[in-house]
Amino acid sequence: MSHSKYKPSDERYSQSVGYRYCGKSGLQLPTISLGLWHNFGDVDDAEEAEKMLKFAFDHGITHFDLANNYGTPAGSAEKNFGKMLKDLFSSYRDEMIISTKAGHAMWDGPYGDGGSRKYLIGSLNQSLKRMKLDYVDIFYSHRYDPNTPLEETMGALSDMVKQGKALYVGISKYPTEKAKEAYRILKENGTPCLINQDRYSIFTREIEKEVIPLAKENGAGFIAFSPLSQGLLSDKYINGIPEKSRAAHSYGFLQKSQITPEKVEKIKALNEIAANRGQSLAQMALAWCLRSEVVNSVIVGTSSVKQLQDNINALENLSFTDDELWKIGELGA
Ligand SMILES: NC(=O)c1ccc[n+]([C@@H]2O[C@H](COP(=O)([O-])OP(=O)(O)OC[C@H]3O[C@@H](n4cnc5c(N)ncnc54)[C@H](OP(=O)(O)O)[C@@H]3O)[C@@H](O)[C@H]2O)c1
Repeated sequence: MSHSKYKPSDERYSQSVGYRYCGKSGLQLPTISLGLWHNFGDVDDAEEAEKMLKFAFDHGITHFDLANNYGTPAGSAEKNFGKMLKDLFSSYRDEMIISTKAGHAMWDGPYGDGGSRKYLIGSLNQSLKRMKLDYVDIFYSHRYDPNTPLEETMGALSDMVKQGKALYVGISKYPTEKAKEAYRILKENGTPCLINQDRYSIFTREIEKEVIPLAKENGAGFIAFSPLSQGLLSDKYINGIPEKSRAAHSYGFLQKSQITPEKVEKIKALNEIAANRGQSLAQMALAWCLRSEVVNSVIVGTSSVKQLQDNINALENLSFTDDELWKIGELGA
């Protein structure tokens, strides 16, 4: 293994964010994972991105969540992450869980989108090249494709494991019935589904009804994305839209139109509950997602080290009173 320029903190595991087993597997995930959808592309601050990656790893955040299309332009998050891995973390690959996905539009023509074997395998090969890796730890089908038989999509995932290009596989945003079939097919293929990744936050909790219980029933883990509802669940938008924020950027996925006066009223009330608990709203939102162990990890996106530190501090208080849960439930609905 080549020598890395970067020496991580010796306390990274003794003072870490802690780990939860992913479903019934033997793989432990950090309670907080770092997502590279935004903030790691060519349009973003490369220096801060590097600082965040080091800070994360120094605090035992071992899981980095990517996809073929992350970053602006698409693919740049994997490319930039690959460069940082090579320059800084080359000695630490075995301490990391690196995930990527394919399923959304990535390149022109009929083979750059969806769930076909042609797309998924071509895309994983591209991702490995961009990240300069021999394998990823988790490869996901990023979304269900109604135009491709599930046997084909799941078969491609299973073959990637059998070829050693992925250690585990997962699904993301699958409708319940299709998730059920996917679990069955993957199991029959001898490559059980490690994990289900879906949107989960105080503002989006529909998946509590079926998606999370079904994952548990099938021995798969569950990991929550956008636990801060892209930043809405923080104090950031209480007094308007700050210039440096996801909603202000033309390339961000949070639209100004999503920040309605009704939403801001709810955010203010939630902010007050958080303050009474001695937490920031972002901290309370993460603690809320992690209050039960069925959520194995939350994937946060951060635009600064300061936010990442704030989020890690959420772990100081993960318990809620019934009264708090009821009030949060009313405001999140
Ligand atoms: N499977 C899928 O289809 C899918 C879809 C979406 C996301 N994901 C994964 O989930 C990850 C997280 O998604 P997300 O970025 O939407 O997550 P998020 O954590 O809900 O939102 C991240 C944004 O919240 C703000 N933020 C974070 N910490 C904060 C703090 N302590 N105080 C104030 N604001 C804070 C930042 O906004 P500013 O930039 O405004 O500072 C940051 O960019 C992605 O990177 C990706 O890996 C997967």
